[in-house]
Amino acid sequence: MSESSNLWGGRFSGSTNDAVAALSRSIDFDWRLAKYDILGTKAHILALKAAGYLSDAEQTRIDKALTELDKRVASGMFQAKPIDEDVHSALERGLIEMVGPELGGKVRAGRSRNDQIATLIRIYLLDQAGLIRDQVLDLIDVLATLAQEHMSAPMPGRTHFQHAQPVLLSHHLLAHAWPLVRDLERLSEWKARASFSPYGAGALAGTSLALDPNIVSQALGLTAPMANSMDATASRDVVAEFAFIGSLIAINLSRFAEEIIIWASAEFNYVKLADAFSTGSSIMPQKKNPDVAELARGKAGRIIGDLTGLLATLKGLPLSYNRDLQEDKEPVFDIVDNLSLLLPAFTGMVATLTFNTERMEELSSAGYSLATDVAEWLVKQKVPFRDAHEITGQLVSFAEAKNIELSDVTDVEFAAISKHLTPEVREVLTVAGSIKSRTGAGGTSVARVLDQISALRKLVPQGSR
Ligand code: ARG
Repeated sequence: MSESSNLWGGRFSGSTNDAVAALSRSIDFDWRLAKYDILGTKAHILALKAAGYLSDAEQTRIDKALTELDKRVASGMFQAKPIDEDVHSALERGLIEMVGPELGGKVRAGRSRNDQIATLIRIYLLDQAGLIRDQVLDLIDVLATLAQEHMSAPMPGRTHFQHAQPVLLSHHLLAHAWPLVRDLERLSEWKARASFSPYGAGALAGTSLALDPNIVSQALGLTAPMANSMDATASRDVVAEFAFIGSLIAINLSRFAEEIIIWASAEFNYVKLADAFSTGSSIMPQKKNPDVAELARGKAGRIIGDLTGLLATLKGLPLSYNRDLQEDKEPVFDIVDNLSLLLPAFTGMVATLTFNTERMEELSSAGYSLATDVAEWLVKQKVPFRDAHEITGQLVSFAEAKNIELSDVTDVEFAAISKHLTPEVREVLTVAGSIKSRTGAGGTSVARVLDQISALRKLVPQGSR
């Protein structure tokens, strides 16, 4: 049985069993919330002062001590001890060491660790969302810059991973930028929902001390206090939604990562990775491995695990606070830590890719990828699409049997397949002609890709963070 700085000793006669203390301790992971706990307490003492529970002088004294405590936490001069159950008990111990038990002991009035922790996780995540947003902006910026640099380079476009139709490399790169733009939209919509203050909810039922929760909410820069004290202390939807958005960011990186891994293979040879963003093998001297992309894929799996673990923690909980909720923190901390580790490395890897545009261009007409262009050309000659599809199918099967490209079929052979296949069809039998013709909204022609870049740049101006 050991000594502890816990906040609930009064009705207990003995001390807590060591195994139980070890099980309930959260200080090892919630210590990162210390600066937010201090912000919460600074806001709370304003409410205590307004309600007459602290004099001006007392509030000022406590506030000064908290400022000092914050500095000591940041410098490591004040540290959590094994006797501290959680960040709240450690910091109360710290405050009392500075202002004495009489004054320090007043601070806990009208709040509970339940409304405290529900507030802290929100303001912590709001801060982290800003950092993740900046890192995602960097990646979007790099993708837009690469698209500009490779504006008119063609590559094979795929469906079912088979050659489908030629597209521009710029178009493909921007197709990875837009989902990230939506992730940032999700993050800012989430911010609006997360910016409410649980403080004042107490343990579950609110407080009788006539504290004004607006004071705390305002001091913390939040929109308003939460409407229902039980919801305020028991809900973690805001945490789960953050985890979902983090998972989606990881998944979006992972999908691009998978392509980069394939593109870097000898068979594809579309890209070369910069030395600084790839790794070697301890046994095979020739190897250059796409580890950053592989770790992006791996991290996505782990982050999805964090999200599903959190959802499973929440699913059976009755109202209101249950200690299970202590398990909400490590999953989102893991997401924050891993995304902020991954994003700069991933962005650096993408920024330093060398694209083998010759190889991509060479392959972009392979697999009869211009067949749709022939069919659409026939439609423009007033052939019903059904017949156009059939005629083009016959053309492909003819070329395939002879093992030649569509453009190698002679005029006589064209005419033998269908009277509609006049020599003019050749104008669409080039990759450049095919891409140029895709002028419909969101299409892969240079004109439409330029539209996209300006739309994207409006949302994410160059160097916008
Ligand atoms: N450490 C707890 C958590 O993370 C907060 C403390 C509330 N504990 C309690 N026994 N009411 O949720």
